[in-house]
Amino acid sequence: METIFSGIQPSGTLTIGNYLGAIQQFVELQNDYDCYFCIVDEHAITVPQDRLKLRNNIRSLAALYLASGINPESSTLFVQSEVPAHTQLGWMLQSISYVGELERMTQYKDKSEGKDAVSSALLTYPSLMAADILLYNSNVVPVGDDQKQHLELTRDLAQRFNNRFNDIFTIPEIRIPKVGARIMSLQEPTKKMSKSDENEKGFISMLDEPKRIEKKIKSAVTDSDGIVKYDKDNKPGVSNLLTIYSSCTGESIKSLEAKYEGKGYGEFKQGVANAVIDTLKPIQDRYAELVNSEKLDDILDKGAEKASFTANKTVAKAKKAMGLGRVRK
Ligand code: TYM
Repeated sequence: METIFSGIQPSGTLTIGNYLGAIQQFVELQNDYDCYFCIVDEHAITVPQDRLKLRNNIRSLAALYLASGINPESSTLFVQSEVPAHTQLGWMLQSISYVGELERMTQYKDKSEGKDAVSSALLTYPSLMAADILLYNSNVVPVGDDQKQHLELTRDLAQRFNNRFNDIFTIPEIRIPKVGARIMSLQEPTKKMSKSDENEKGFISMLDEPKRIEKKIKSAVTDSDGIVKYDKDNKPGVSNLLTIYSSCTGESIKSLEAKYEGKGYGEFKQGVANAVIDTLKPIQDRYAELVNSEKLDDILDKGAEKASFTANKTVAKAKKAMGLGRVRK
């Protein structure tokens, strides 16, 4: 069976973008692969975090994975910092990463732009991300569109290591959903929806109450045409809402366009809101039962143990290949 790895940062409550771009595909794929799903807390600290909020976000993210349908019996769910092999291999991969290629990453450019104090970890973040993936000999990495560049670098680093030292890493393939790979902000539909957006009206959190979801969608920026049609360049707001609607219900964009032909944005937005609420409500109910449970801790303990077992074997191989440590006489 092939292996999947993917991770999400506990840097705020997940948005519908994270759900549609990432988690929804994880749930779909989990029965066909040996899956590792990770709460990447070491990635989150590349920008300043409040200690207590981070701790809460880690738990909350774990509960959201499970509430969304990740099955802990078949998939391995764990917290990155509880498996030290990630930073160990991350360091080794940093030693073969070039500053120039790291500086070219658009996420680094976006997050460091205009800031005086940028952590060095923000720059070397992709080497750690490569380690996450390569530790498990992952064949496929399901992500949203914004992680494409990091995945290409991961492939380059794996190949570089294999050529320079020993052929130990599997070169992973990227998997991006056909619809929903890039959900945009509700307020600025040419910008990606992000959980760290300062404008709360721009994103729908997976834990927003139904009334709030409805309000946010009703105030989403559209245009003055009044025509429900997918046209990303000229009608980014409506196109984004169509994408959200289609990803939540599985109904094609074409069929949604036909359904709302001749109808106004008011009715359309109500349809989008209902689709989002129907998707999130059952997840929210399961979340409430899980988030403070002992069961959650048991799952994460077991996950860290299982992940460590595989990851430690890869670190041992990588150390040997690079000549690190000793060989006993
Ligand atoms: P993160 O935490 O920013 O996002 C988690 C996942 O959600 C996807 N995503 C979106 N998809 C569609 N529309 C959006 N608006 C949207 N926003 C986010 C992301 O593409 C991602 O799949 N670097 C990663 C975390 C990571 C990782 C890994 C991922 C660390 N190590 C190894 C895969 C494999 C990140 O910051 O994702």
